[in-house]
This record gives sequence, structure tokens and C-alpha cells, in this order.
Amino acid sequence: MEKVLKDTFLSRSLTVINDLSIDEQLFLYNQTRRLKEKWFNKEDVSEFMIKGNVGIYIVFIEPSTRTKESFINAAKFHKNAKVTIFDSNLSSFNKNESYVDTFNMLTGYSDYSIFIVRTKLEGTCKLLEKSVSDFAVRNNLIVPSFINAGDGKHEHPTQELLDEFTFLEKNNFDNSYIHIALVGDLLHGRTVHSKVNGLKIFKNVKVDLIAPQEILMPKHYIEKMKSNGFEVRIFESIEKYLKQKDIANIWYFTRLQLERMGEDILEKEFFLRKSVTFKKEFLPLLPQDVKFYHPLPRHKIYPTIPTFLDSLPLNGWEKQAINGYWTRIILLSMFGGALKYNSNNNTDICNNEEYIISAPVINGTKGVQKDGKRGIKPIENGTVIDHIAKGKGADEIFLTILKIRKIMKFFDIDSADGIFKSEDGKLKGYISLPDKYLSKREIKKLSAISPNITVNIIKNSRVTEKYRIKLPPKVYGFEELKCKNENCISNPIHGENVKGSFIRNNNGELICEYCETPHDYNEIWDI
Ligand code: CP
Repeated sequence: MEKVLKDTFLSRSLTVINDLSIDEQLFLYNQTRRLKEKWFNKEDVSEFMIKGNVGIYIVFIEPSTRTKESFINAAKFHKNAKVTIFDSNLSSFNKNESYVDTFNMLTGYSDYSIFIVRTKLEGTCKLLEKSVSDFAVRNNLIVPSFINAGDGKHEHPTQELLDEFTFLEKNNFDNSYIHIALVGDLLHGRTVHSKVNGLKIFKNVKVDLIAPQEILMPKHYIEKMKSNGFEVRIFESIEKYLKQKDIANIWYFTRLQLERMGEDILEKEFFLRKSVTFKKEFLPLLPQDVKFYHPLPRHKIYPTIPTFLDSLPLNGWEKQAINGYWTRIILLSMFGGALKYNSNNNTDICNNEEYIISAPVINGTKGVQKDGKRGIKPIENGTVIDHIAKGKGADEIFLTILKIRKIMKFFDIDSADGIFKSEDGKLKGYISLPDKYLSKREIKKLSAISPNITVNIIKNSRVTEKYRIKLPPKVYGFEELKCKNENCISNPIHGENVKGSFIRNNNGELICEYCETPHDYNEIWDI
């Protein structure tokens, strides 16, 4: 295989479903449909097979039946590929080797590698995608591809591919509309979290969430569905859902993820289960063409889809599980270079946006007190940080000043701070730093600690420059950043030596780049 390959999917990763554009996802579904047709018509399917020295590494550090085994079989469809099943129990993970070091090593064993990775830790593939590429470049290797086979309660993008393909099959590949009910543990279920973006392949989407409050989908996912244009309705139980008439013809069940629940939720297990388990008496209330789906496994004693339903026409979950094999063959065909598609892989992140905005200097007197009684402590030269937490209460302003001082390490330099009333009557804080000018990096840091402040540059007792600073589109590269999610690979408790990194969304929340947990700007600093 050539060292540098200009190909749409080579070296691409699937860490979350959004890593493939909607057009690319539809391409995958069309190719899966073609492959299935050709296979069942006994036609030649060699066009789908990977050529060249491609290593497919299957790395499961959490139990799995379907995802692991369907990937092993899908990888073996690609007869030229070298398939390795990594034994994490007998690996140097047990000698405290980091994820990055481990995958760096494995990258060296083929011209090009595709890693299929399942972990408890959230954001692992995102970390590997970012970090292992450096190793590949240093060693003149093709940057490998990482496929997230499920990470904690975060996402399960390849399950999403097989789910959406299955829904399309049910709809005769008409993607104009879907009405789907998501039932069960919507709090911990990563497969339903992937639906928030995966369902965007349909032009019109109506989603009914059926779960008690304790295991309802996290608010940020619900908000995201709404901002994606989905109609969203919420019901506490199947019983309550069936009391109204507008019932979905696609039901997607999930099991209660007891292994991820805290004691407080576990105590209510019986009640939670009852709310989301289907009962015989509900059958007459269902639409004629309804199909039930489930990512599986089902609980053997308390399945949310009881086994008496297995032989009914509404059983869609068996064909759904089998589709995992076909969709994963095609995903490997794409990432292994056998299928090409010209696409724009657009992201909606605007990293070049201005967040340090130059403001007019009105009379240049900010460095001195106007009336000698109140206002900013006069300095001849240096920086005055102004408008800190403007409009908040005195306590909050004081705490924000302390936070800025602590994170910016302003304790050990000549400085002063205070709280005073601005002309519009609102309280605000300031810090003045005689003889200190901030670097762009320091101003950037400041903007993520306390956005909407102003930075005044004082020279010879006059304000010569003034900047208003906003929350930046991306916050990264500072030691003190920390994701609040304890299951995130970037959280320091896991010792993977990953610095926190956050991307601002349209609502002004900072989203962890690894596990996608949303944060207020106050929550990203480990102080
Ligand atoms: N659906 C799914 O991910 O199943 P496994 O955990 O068995 O892989």
C-alpha cells in the first residue's frame, strides 16, 4: 500500500456518529443495501473487499457479544486484511501502560491499521485519534483509524449505523420521516445517546422518550434533539404513553444498565423496570405496522421486551442484530480504502471566531481615579482587568476575583483588586496589575475563567488599548482544565495524562472534546 493515500475515508475515525457527515452515513447505508442484495443474489462482492496490508485490531476492554463477534466476522469478510483480537487481560495494560503508549505500539505492526475499541472510559477513541497520529507521523506510518465500539455511557456509533440501516430497511429506504419511541434506560444507554445525531439522516423526526425521571435522557441530549429540529415528547411509562393515540411504529427498547447506576437509582429498580417493560395487555393498543428493536443484550430474567413477543411479527430486533454484520463490513470497506466517496466532512465548529475584541478607548483616563474616591486603583503602567462578574452579587464577584487570581497565579505579583459600582449602578470587580502586560495566551485563559470582562492596557497613566473578551470557541492547553465526568478518559483520576479540552456550543456550554459532557465555564477549572 502507498504510504500517502488520498482517499476519503483512510485515516478517518468514527469516535461519535457525527464523525461521518449525513451524506457519508447515507452512502454507508446504500452500500450496505447493495452488498446485501449482491450477497443474497450470489453475485460477486469483491468490490467491497479491502486490498493491501491492512491490520484490523479488535480491542475490547469491556464485555461484548454482538459488537465484538460481528466485527470479527466482518473483518474476516475482508480476506486480505490481517485480523488480530487483542487480549487486554494479558497485555501490559496490567503493568499500568497508558492507552496512548499501547496503541502507538500496535500501529507499527501494519502499513495501515484500523482499531476497533470498546472501553468503559468515555472519549478513548477521540484521545487515540488525536494522539496516535503524532506517533504515526514520527514513524512515517499511515495515520490509523479508530472505531468506537462503545465507550461507557457516551456513544455507540457503530450500533447507530446498524440501527439506522434497520429503520431505513423497514421504511423501504424512504428517509423523509421517522416516528420513533425510545424506551428504557435513556440516562445510561449509549445507543440512545447516539440517536440524538444519528436520526438526522431522516428529514423529519418525531421522538417519544419513554422513561421515568430517574433514567430520562440527559437534558443536553434532549436540547440537542430539539435544536436538530426533532419533535420531542416525554412520557413516564409505557402505560402512560399508550393512553394517547399518536403512537410510534418504531419502538427502540434498552435494558436497565444496572452496572452504571448509583445506589440511589438502584433502590428503585423494581419501579423503573415496571415503567419500561412491555406487557401482554398492551398489545391491542399498538399500531398495525409496529416493529420493536433493541440493541441487546436483554436481561435474562427481566427483559424489557419479554420473550413471549419473540415469535410475533413485531420482532425487529433479530434482523437488527444481524445487520450489525453487514453495516460493519461496509464501514471496514470504507475505512480500509475499498470504497471511496467524495464528500465534505463539515464540522460546525468555528475556531477562527474572534473572542478578544478591540474596543474604543474613550478618554484614556482609566489608569487614574477620576474623583479620587472610588474606581480602579490608579496605576501608571500595566493592566487593569475590569467588569469582572458585572451585575452579580458582591460574594460572587469576590469569588470570581479569587478564582482569577488563583488560576492566573496573580497572588505572587504586585496587584490590587476591589468591587465597585459602575455608572449603570451594577456591581463589578477589577484587578489591577502594575507593570504587568498579559500575553495573548494569558488573555485567552482569562477569557475562559471569566468571560465578558475587559482588559485595559495602561501606559503613562492612560488607557492605550482596551479589549472586551468573550468565551472562546475552544478552551484547551491549560494544566488546570479538567472534565467533571469521572468516566472520561481525560479525567486525571485515570492517569492517562490527558489535558482537558472543551469546545463551545451554540448555547455557550463548553463540551468536553473527549466524552462530550457539557460544562458551564465555571466547571472546567480544577482548583
Ligand atoms: N448491542 C451491543 O453493543 O451488544 P454487545 O454489548 O453484546 O456488543
